[in-house]
Amino acid sequence: MAERGRFVTFEGIDGSGKSTQARRLADTLRAAGGEVVLTREPGGSPGAEEIRRLLVEGPPERWSAETEILLFTAARRDHLEKTVLPALARGATVISDRFADSTRVYQGAARGELRGLVDALHAQVIGHEPDLTFILDMDPDASLARGLARQSGEDRFEEFGAGFQARLRDGFRALASEFPGRCRLIDAARPEAEIAAEIAKLCGAEAP
Ligand code: ADP
Ligand code: TYD
Repeated sequence: MAERGRFVTFEGIDGSGKSTQARRLADTLRAAGGEVVLTREPGGSPGAEEIRRLLVEGPPERWSAETEILLFTAARRDHLEKTVLPALARGATVISDRFADSTRVYQGAARGELRGLVDALHAQVIGHEPDLTFILDMDPDASLARGLARQSGEDRFEEFGAGFQARLRDGFRALASEFPGRCRLIDAARPEAEIAAEIAKLCGAEAP
């Protein structure tokens, strides 16, 4: 299946504004015409949404980092097969709130030295990278306050605490240096509209 659409992902620590900015970019690109599929991980297909509930609910010690890698990768494979690749094949722009970089950072770096396992599984069963990745970067104390304020019942990862979030931030910044071709580091501690305008410009679109 030849890919034709553009695959854009948003990454960063919890509460950094990924969902907000993904939605704004989708609105901007839709207003300019063309099909946009806005999706998220873990989730984005019926099967992957079922796996999501296993991952985001319950106490932090529910899964080991190794088990998490397998569950996130299983969810990603289903999301790719059912949602991402068919949309790219028909020429749509796919915007995903998180993708494989989250596994590289959350399971591969911040929760143990498991990057080798993450990379091996990715190569075997995922094998796709985004065309463009926005890494929303900000102070973890401020983003944690935003995230917990939501009280969504999906706070398993937020509950690992501020030290964990600080390691994640370092991990995402390192990833931006590792993949400079597709990653753009965005200062996320600014007003929503200002961030949205920068992101739209980097996508070659005008924010409304
Ligand atoms: P994420 O998807 O990264 O967890 P969200 O987009 O859900 O983050 O945003 C987390 C919370 O912060 C939400 O309540 C949202 O309205 C708020 N928020 C998002 N962007 C900003 C911003 N630039 N400034 C202040 N608050 C924001
Ligand atoms: P998400 O719903 O994006 O959380 P938030 O909106 O708070 O940023 O993702 C749920 C949690 O799953 C989040 O804390 C990050 C974590 N996660 C991983 O640990 N590894 C992964 O591969 C993915 C996609 C998410």
